Amino acid sequence: MSILIKNGKIITASAEYEADIFIEGEQISAIGKNLQVKADQEIDATGKIIFPGGIDPHVHLDMPFMGTFSSDDYSSGTLAALHGGTTMVIDFVLQTQGKSLQHALDAWRGRSDGNCYGDYGFHMAVTDFNDSTKEEIIHMIEQEGITSFKTFMAYKGALMIDDGQMVGLMKEVKKHGGLVTVHATNGDMIDTLIAKHKSEGKLSPLYHYLSQPEVTEAEASGRFADMANYTGANGYIVHMTCEGALEAVRRSGSRNQRVHVETCIQYLILDASLYEKDFEGAKWVMSPPLREKKDQEALWAGLNQGLVQVVGTDHCPFKWEQKLMGKDDFSKIPNGHPAIENRIELLYSEGVNKGRISPQKFVEVTSTNAAKIFGMFPKKGSIGIGADADLVIFDPNEKHTLSAKTHHMNVDYSGYEGWEVTGKCKTTILRGKIAIDHGEVKIEKGYGQYVKRNKVSPII
Ligand code: URP
Ligand code: ZN
Ligand code: ZN
Repeated sequence: MSILIKNGKIITASAEYEADIFIEGEQISAIGKNLQVKADQEIDATGKIIFPGGIDPHVHLDMPFMGTFSSDDYSSGTLAALHGGTTMVIDFVLQTQGKSLQHALDAWRGRSDGNCYGDYGFHMAVTDFNDSTKEEIIHMIEQEGITSFKTFMAYKGALMIDDGQMVGLMKEVKKHGGLVTVHATNGDMIDTLIAKHKSEGKLSPLYHYLSQPEVTEAEASGRFADMANYTGANGYIVHMTCEGALEAVRRSGSRNQRVHVETCIQYLILDASLYEKDFEGAKWVMSPPLREKKDQEALWAGLNQGLVQVVGTDHCPFKWEQKLMGKDDFSKIPNGHPAIENRIELLYSEGVNKGRISPQKFVEVTSTNAAKIFGMFPKKGSIGIGADADLVIFDPNEKHTLSAKTHHMNVDYSGYEGWEVTGKCKTTILRGKIAIDHGEVKIEKGYGQYVKRNKVSPII
């Protein structure tokens, strides 16, 4: 099967130019002006831009969490991602404390394999680092293609590890060429504030926000950077929300250390005033919480300064009836919000169309940098000969309104209801197959493949 995309404008992390793209099988085989080739199918992309399929390196599909499961499974989640121009996701396997990493991986692959529309990989969340976990790290990297290891400095009793475990894990991961990623907030400080608010009868979603002030994230981010510096490990901070945490990373740069930073679309465009809407604020109960306008400004600047290298989603949807589990107690509201389908269009609309970031920066932070950091470049995250033909054909001028009535995520509300965006994903191509065309699904469940990742390159 071959496809010729004609007359589009190609946008990459470093360039933009008009050219045709010829796809044979799963890869791009030629790029050039007025390509004279015979293809099984031609797509006229006049007036459209074409960029690499999005990579969202932070999603939680069908995940057991806070007494329930996130409401998008691998089928609905990866399909919604494709509708929104994301061709690959990296999800998190969570080790159960007291059990092996392999035990968790088997459970996660049992839920995912054969069920995905889009391509997928895994990070391994190490929640119990001990002598036997240590033995499994090399197997995960060399055999399973899992080269990034997630840690939690919060969620004590379920996911959190202490600093001794963190340092031990960092040393082992560094030895074998992997990357340590982190949910960097101070779990003990947060738990103390949660207990205080509850004892004072302060139980609404607003107190979720007030239990996780900026200092809890700034302190943990700095501590993580210090431990990464001490061990020499490659580090990556997920879902960064605030100026204070970014400053900690900026300081680490002055000792010539590179700590990668990811933010998520919601932290760039939503703010904590949403927690003042009584229980409706539960829609945005996530950890860390939404912050202030000054933090949004710091994150946009961080993108342009190259300090923030990835924009993900932390897609972790829960239906309204699940959110109601915390109706009388904010600490029981399942943490997370839906965004897997909205990331690309929102970032293009709020970032590129509003002049905050360039089209090249947009590509960098939605696919290319994630592919580089997580060991998939240039197969993923690039438009080049031999790369996987993962492409989005995008109308940069089409206006539309986001709504739960029209989205494809398995959740009965939208965190962005009524949001007007300019720019729409028209066609999504995954490994040489048209996956979504003008809203129509063209592939079958199971087309999405598990992607084994390479060891990481230390500096990008
Ligand atoms: O609120 C969130 N972020 N839920 C998912 C788990 C996590 O901390 O990433
Ligand atoms: Zn987290
Ligand atoms: Zn997460």
